[in-house]
Amino acid sequence: MCGIVGYSGFRRASEVIIESLKRLEYRGYDSAGMAVINHGITVEKKRGYVSMLKGEMEGRTGIGHTRWATHGEPSDKNAHPFTGCTGEFAIVHNGIIENYMELRKDLVKKGHKYASDTDSEVIVHLLEEGYAEHKDFKKAFFEMIGRLRGSFAIVAVHRGENRIMAVKKESPLIVGIGEEENFLASDIPAFLSYTNRVVIMEDGEVCELDPDGISFYDFQGNERKKKTEYVDWTPESAEKSGYEHFMLKEIFEQPLAIENTMHTLFSNDIDLPYYGRITIVACGTSYNAGITGKYLLEKLLGIPVDVYYASEYRLRPEVRERSLVIFITQSGETADTLVAAKIARKRGYETVGITNILGSSITHHVDHVIYTSAGPEIGVAATKTFTAQLAALYYLGAALGEKYGILSQMKCDEIIDEFRRVPRLIEKSLDYEGTIKKIAQKIMNSENMFYLGRGMNYPIAMEGALKMKEISYIHAEAYPAGELKHGPLALLKEGVPVVAIVTRDETYDKMLSNIREVSARGATVIAISPETEIENYVDYRIPVPKNSAMFSPFGNTVAVQLLAYHTAKLRGCEIDKPRNLAKSVTVE
Ligand code: AGP
Repeated sequence: MCGIVGYSGFRRASEVIIESLKRLEYRGYDSAGMAVINHGITVEKKRGYVSMLKGEMEGRTGIGHTRWATHGEPSDKNAHPFTGCTGEFAIVHNGIIENYMELRKDLVKKGHKYASDTDSEVIVHLLEEGYAEHKDFKKAFFEMIGRLRGSFAIVAVHRGENRIMAVKKESPLIVGIGEEENFLASDIPAFLSYTNRVVIMEDGEVCELDPDGISFYDFQGNERKKKTEYVDWTPESAEKSGYEHFMLKEIFEQPLAIENTMHTLFSNDIDLPYYGRITIVACGTSYNAGITGKYLLEKLLGIPVDVYYASEYRLRPEVRERSLVIFITQSGETADTLVAAKIARKRGYETVGITNILGSSITHHVDHVIYTSAGPEIGVAATKTFTAQLAALYYLGAALGEKYGILSQMKCDEIIDEFRRVPRLIEKSLDYEGTIKKIAQKIMNSENMFYLGRGMNYPIAMEGALKMKEISYIHAEAYPAGELKHGPLALLKEGVPVVAIVTRDETYDKMLSNIREVSARGATVIAISPETEIENYVDYRIPVPKNSAMFSPFGNTVAVQLLAYHTAKLRGCEIDKPRNLAKSVTVE
């Protein structure tokens, strides 16, 4: 996955591009570059972060790119933009050109010389071919699109013009509308400090943009009318606002993210038919939300819920079942999840997408969309989007329970009442940051960790382990606490930290025995629990507020997020941009 931008207006393009790229760095950060139209086309590109770009060039129109390598190692030569043989065009690309090998061979035969190992570079050579024939940028652009197979968002400029041509197919691209200036970007935060008026491009659309106007076309060149939308995200929502890292800011934004998500959920009707079975499909953190959803929905609705990793769902043979299939993806762009959604639809299932991003790709591949309103999440580690996904699933449980006649009106009202108190519950959990910081000091030098939970808090243990691995690089594994003795206990050594999530419900006594088991083997036990009594059995306790077991995942999530954050910080890790990871993974 990469981040791409385009600007044409009255400002110095290089400054706008650098600022916009910094806001897209969560999408990739192994190299960055830009091209600006002036007397010719000036290009600056490098391996490394956007901050390495100087951006000292004149010009009011330009394009930029921040890369997460797929084809070709991260290096100066593989950084975008590409300018081809003549230097008349510059292009940036996000996605994968599947037929690049055959195109490349063909173009090399015609005399084109390649400067990189990427699939993307064929695009600029194709533009040169088309331009040589038609002497028209727009015609050459459409012709180039016709030759490509795969997924692509492409933004291109031509020497001597302040016009930008762009295309979207299965990779996101949004247009920002300003006054005498216009923007293009992979995601809204890129231009949020200039405008909140946006047009969301759909697959199969081309955009032609200059400071005075924007036109949209289909791939055949027919003009399309598009709707302008207003986003209510503020520019500050894409800034660190005094926090040291986006991740910390986003952890602390959770009460607001849940409140906004509730507002969105309450003001939209959820009308999903009854199938007697639910399948949830997702990746990473969204998968962990899905497992939490399984425990919850089975409890509330009394119907079976299966959860699949999206990359595995596609391998599933066609089975005879009637099921509502829910895809959870905060970005709405995860390739594995999109492929799974297409398969489910092809097989005739009724599908639902839960996403945080307006108009994202998943919204085009499902029958029903449920939006979370967590605001932009820049840190690669998902935090507020996870609790917002949980909120959507809790609400879904109550709403479907009522609609299907499974839950009484009273039970539903009870759940919704408690649901409304979640932002306060999270606020109270955030108060224990000080305690968590101290615990992080004790575990910061560990090489391995275990996370234990039971029932609805097993997926929260999974999420805790994922956060810890992802940002602190400590090897952390989560187990349903009862499973430990069936093998993994052999790995326990003196001093290995074990995080145990202990809730006062039917799992409580069993959790206590599991804690005794690990303590007896010398583990350092950290309990996340509202119960003071636990202190008799463990080394440290994170005292999350007392709450019903059903809603305990919210407070417990905050505790595991903060523990991962402070441990990673003490270890000096790149918290917002962990090595080898990108915010959304748009390759399968
Ligand atoms: C979470 O911290 C990760 N960055 C990752 O596991 C992520 O949740 C996963 O890639 C799925 O992303 P999505 O929700 O955008 O589909």
